[in-house]
Amino acid sequence: MTNTRKSIHGQWSSRWAFILAATGSAVGLGNIWKFPYIAGENGGGAFVLVYLLCIASIGIPIMMAEILLGRRGRQSPVNTMRTLASESGRSPHWQWLGWGGVFSGFLILSYYSVVAGWALAYVFRVGSGEFTGVTAARAGALFTELVSDPERLLAWHTIFMGMTMFVVARGVRSGLEQAVRVLMPALFVILLLLVGYALNSGKFAEGAAFLFNPDFSKLTADSILVAMGHAFFTLSLGMGAIMVYGSYLNQHVSIGRTSLFIAALDTLVALLAGLAIFPIVMSHGLEPGAGPGLIFQSLPLAFGHMPGGQFFGALFFVLLVFAAWTSAISLLEPAVTWLVESRGMSRLKATMGCGVAIWALGIGTVLSFNLWSSPLFAGKTFFDLLDYLTANILLPLGGLLISLFAGWLLTREASLDELGLGDGPAYRIWRVLASFVAPLAVAIVFLNAIGLV
Ligand code: PHE
Repeated sequence: MTNTRKSIHGQWSSRWAFILAATGSAVGLGNIWKFPYIAGENGGGAFVLVYLLCIASIGIPIMMAEILLGRRGRQSPVNTMRTLASESGRSPHWQWLGWGGVFSGFLILSYYSVVAGWALAYVFRVGSGEFTGVTAARAGALFTELVSDPERLLAWHTIFMGMTMFVVARGVRSGLEQAVRVLMPALFVILLLLVGYALNSGKFAEGAAFLFNPDFSKLTADSILVAMGHAFFTLSLGMGAIMVYGSYLNQHVSIGRTSLFIAALDTLVALLAGLAIFPIVMSHGLEPGAGPGLIFQSLPLAFGHMPGGQFFGALFFVLLVFAAWTSAISLLEPAVTWLVESRGMSRLKATMGCGVAIWALGIGTVLSFNLWSSPLFAGKTFFDLLDYLTANILLPLGGLLISLFAGWLLTREASLDELGLGDGPAYRIWRVLASFVAPLAVAIVFLNAIGLV
């Protein structure tokens, strides 16, 4: 039973367009901003090892499941789940999985855009030479100065949301695809340049050791949860972003091979970012556990002392903005497609409606670095709570349900047909991973984090 459904939103023009878009979604602030600082906060090597294990055993099979469901349903995640559930004779309540994704996307984008706004601000600050010759202390102070000013943060957040809405409003081919075709190749070139610089900074070995030498005494139940949550976050899994991108994918493209490739590129970027950042952190005596400000302090410091640093530094932050931009559009897309399909809105109106709501929610994050910086709950600010709830709970939970649905409830012939691996060992391995390994691993990490196993 081959799938002949078509998406009303359009299709990628080629397999490469999909790879660029999905890699664009995956590679973002998660790789360059978040991975280094959470690795730093959780002790380095052992954390990185757990993260890599999660990518391989949980992330890749769930990514395949998500793309396969998306391409099978060819609609927004909400309607895809509803259609596939009804076709497989399951409860229409499965559409709630799609709704959960829309909700997570709103929460994530609301703070993601604020942090992307910091990157925007840094393009101009680094480019204007403000960091030339600075000390580590001064670089730290400049970061604190930015985040303690709610008006400036709000302005940058507004600009970034505007950029995101601009691309999404233009649609699949002329918006999303155009953007990733230009932005993604550039990102790789610059990251390689930076690693080259780090190689010459003298402390490369120390930085690499921090990232790769596991010290298991540093691993707590919570850091295992953070590592798993990050595997979901960095691969954009568990909220329908990859599902909606899968719904624009041509029928003949291999889901297995493409998923492996995207996950490998994403992991490579995170590790390269770590290798570029930790040698700098080590050689300037910065604190690896410095938290969300880590790259905004370490990188400008390094650029401030390197020949041509003003230009390359600004360029780096431009590319960080690009990486964030190609991820942000995928956070907005699932909700917009639902409004277009089920409420008959134009893409422009749907984008405006969702975008403004997310922008408003972002004000909470803006304030949590200044006026509301005292903890709200469990020692966490509004921003910390959003980040913790989405990355460590909602995305893994979404991923768990996606893999259970694809592994147990979707008809075998549907998954067999869609994956196109033939009824051989590759298909069976995926099925075991999606039906048993991934859901069990997520469940165990959850139970472990709340102290039950
Ligand atoms: N993967 C993106 C990053 O690493 C974030 C993201 C999460 C995007 C979930 C879409 C969906 O920055």
